[in-house]
Amino acid sequence: MTLWEVFEIKPFIFRTAGKVIFGARTLRKLPDELKNFPPGKVLIVTDENLSKTEIVEHVIREIEISGREHILYDGVTPEPRVEQADRAGELAKECALVIGVGGGSSIDVAKGASVVASHGGKARDYIGVNKVPRRGIPIVAIPTTAGTGSEVTPTAVFLFDERKKGGINSPHIIPDLAILDPELTVTLPPSLTASTGMDALTHALESYVARSSNSMSEMFSLEALKLISQNIRIAYAVPDNIEAREGMLFGSFLAGIALAHAGVGACHSMSYPLGAFYGIGHGLANSVLIPHVSLYNAIAVPHKYALVASILGEKAENLSLRDAAFSVYDALLKLLYDLNLPVSLADLGVPEEDLPRLAASALEVERPLANNPRRIGYEEIYNIYREVYNFGREEGF
Ligand SMILES: [Fe+2]
Repeated sequence: MTLWEVFEIKPFIFRTAGKVIFGARTLRKLPDELKNFPPGKVLIVTDENLSKTEIVEHVIREIEISGREHILYDGVTPEPRVEQADRAGELAKECALVIGVGGGSSIDVAKGASVVASHGGKARDYIGVNKVPRRGIPIVAIPTTAGTGSEVTPTAVFLFDERKKGGINSPHIIPDLAILDPELTVTLPPSLTASTGMDALTHALESYVARSSNSMSEMFSLEALKLISQNIRIAYAVPDNIEAREGMLFGSFLAGIALAHAGVGACHSMSYPLGAFYGIGHGLANSVLIPHVSLYNAIAVPHKYALVASILGEKAENLSLRDAAFSVYDALLKLLYDLNLPVSLADLGVPEEDLPRLAASALEVERPLANNPRRIGYEEIYNIYREVYNFGREEGF
């Protein structure tokens, strides 16, 4: 046990995907696994780029081996709108199951399609908490990024209405089967490896320090932090390093389990408007914010942040608890620089005059804010946005 670990068993309820298969070349197990689902067609939900690749071809081949027919929906975009789930849901009405292949967006649209096909109406009707009445047609998740952890979460996030972003949150949309094949992630370009990996790291970190964390979720958060911090730079620099890809996919999966049970915090509330207003990718939005949100939170749970800093490679053991906790800020900024990620909102093209309405919009993403370890309101959110906007403009790092 390291210096800052506090051992106390907090009560928990644990629930995850019906079955998880992890390992290189496990996509080949798909035909056997499909025997466990009701007979009928399969809807593949993916994005246009991926549908032209070997990966979707391979999925189709495995479905054909199983003797099933398939329908392909490849209209998923980054930061998907809720209407995509409606369109995929219409197609899913003639299918026995839905397979999401891709990043979190594709898996989320697959979840939404299952809901619409099974319970009617529009996906928009189910945005909120526990609005899905029961499980619908089965959902299979085949991630090709090591990021969202959507393969094990009860959430599907969409843009809806006018510049709003929110989720369908229900245990009934946790996938029935997740196939985690690290070989499917080796073709992910470095920039996406970095941004999706930072999303996974943010899940691990925010779930660990969250007010709703428990003994079980903390275990997953910490292991995820170790795996992601050990592998993210290597996966970015050497894309075909399969061990690093395995570490990242395992890490993002564990972080997904952690966030499914402990939730996330203020960084996610603040990243949502950046996606909704400017289409800034979720991973990029989280990565630019997380050092600054962590700096704000550190004094609320210093023993936790000190441990995180140590896992992220800071020499935290030789520091006071306070200094060790704050060193998480340096650790996260070093990651952004090494991964060549933007460090300020100005770099991302966010107009300075928008900061007040971004803060007002983040304030509406209430659940993660209430789960943040330190109390946070409009003023604090605005100040953090301002700090991130100006970061690096006056002095270098
Ligand atoms: Fe996320």
